[in-house]
Amino acid sequence: MREERILMVDPVSEEEQATEQSLRPRRLDDFVGQPKLKERLGISIDAAAQLGRPLDHVLLSGPPGLGKTTLATILANELGTRLRVTSGPALERPGDLASMLTNLEQGDVFFVDEIHRLPRIVEEVLYPAMEDFELDIILGKGPSAQSIRLDLPRFTLVGATTRKGKVTAPLRDRFGIVDKLDYYEASDLKAIVTRSAAILDVDITEDGARIISRRSRGTPRIANRLLARVRDYAIARAGGIVDEATTLKALEIFEVDELGLDKVDRAIIASIVNKFGGGPVGLSTLAIAVGEEPETVEDAYEPFLLQIGLLQRTPRGRMATASAYTHLGLEPPATPQQILPGT
Ligand SMILES: Nc1ncnc2c1ncn2[C@@H]1O[C@H](COP(=O)(O)OP(=O)(O)OP(=O)(O)O)[C@@H](O)[C@H]1O
Ligand SMILES: [Mg+2]
Repeated sequence: MREERILMVDPVSEEEQATEQSLRPRRLDDFVGQPKLKERLGISIDAAAQLGRPLDHVLLSGPPGLGKTTLATILANELGTRLRVTSGPALERPGDLASMLTNLEQGDVFFVDEIHRLPRIVEEVLYPAMEDFELDIILGKGPSAQSIRLDLPRFTLVGATTRKGKVTAPLRDRFGIVDKLDYYEASDLKAIVTRSAAILDVDITEDGARIISRRSRGTPRIANRLLARVRDYAIARAGGIVDEATTLKALEIFEVDELGLDKVDRAIIASIVNKFGGGPVGLSTLAIAVGEEPETVEDAYEPFLLQIGLLQRTPRGRMATASAYTHLGLEPPATPQQILPGT
């Protein structure tokens, strides 16, 4: 099922992961958009260099595909250090974390993706490591067990999460730098599409880049993915150049509408409207109706639908807005449903 989708927000195939790698900016200067975040990180990087100290721990949050992993890579490049990568779910036991930590060198960037999925017992080992650069290891079992304390090199933990609300308060509080990525402006996405086209050697016109950028759901990963699919269409069916007509035709074939909504996005708003009378409907019911996991709906689809005002979250569930009806070509209900205050 995953394989069929061209617009899933996570990288799908190995080939796509390789492309993503080649399109990833390496330096802060090549990172397009997010000017405030960039300025703040730039200041911290420069200060760390001048003080001759490792950068404070950094927590980055935001929807999938906006550049969290890219920024972790950039931080290591800018700091001139190594990048060590793992993820919350990969660190199942305290020992998994201990072996990563003991292999770090002074100044290394230790990147933990999906940090909100770190098991609690592992998280507790991380606290003293972040705060005091110390690791407590228990040797042996039962009454003869001994606890030894190891000193760790000063490293920089970079945590990434699509769910900031799921990062526990004690963990969040141990990061000196906490920042978030927002959906990109169309102008920034256009710059990203143009940059990617140059790297991939795609012949693209100004109009082609503009249309792709406007239909990318504010997300660089989707912009790059649409570019690749439109390029395929251009090469296979339209003489190779990604211009306005070719782009419009390709996006029609791949079922990406004017707002950049894909099939799942449309299924979400269409089911709220058609199956649940406009809502409110609970997340899990909605997820079943569209055949996705509740977390996928919540993390990958809803934030953008909320952002563009097609969806509303109320204490009683999700509701479609008047714009959602209009987008589906329907008349919005005459009396908007009353939204009751917190229940
Ligand atoms: N600011 C940017 N400028 C140019 N390209 C970008 C930018 N941000 C992201 N990209 C591109 O988008 C792709 C996805 O970014 P990245 O993998 O960093 O997202 P992510 O936030 O880590 O997503 P996930 O939550 O799914 O792990 C990258 O391969 C990169 O090519
Ligand atoms: Mg990532």
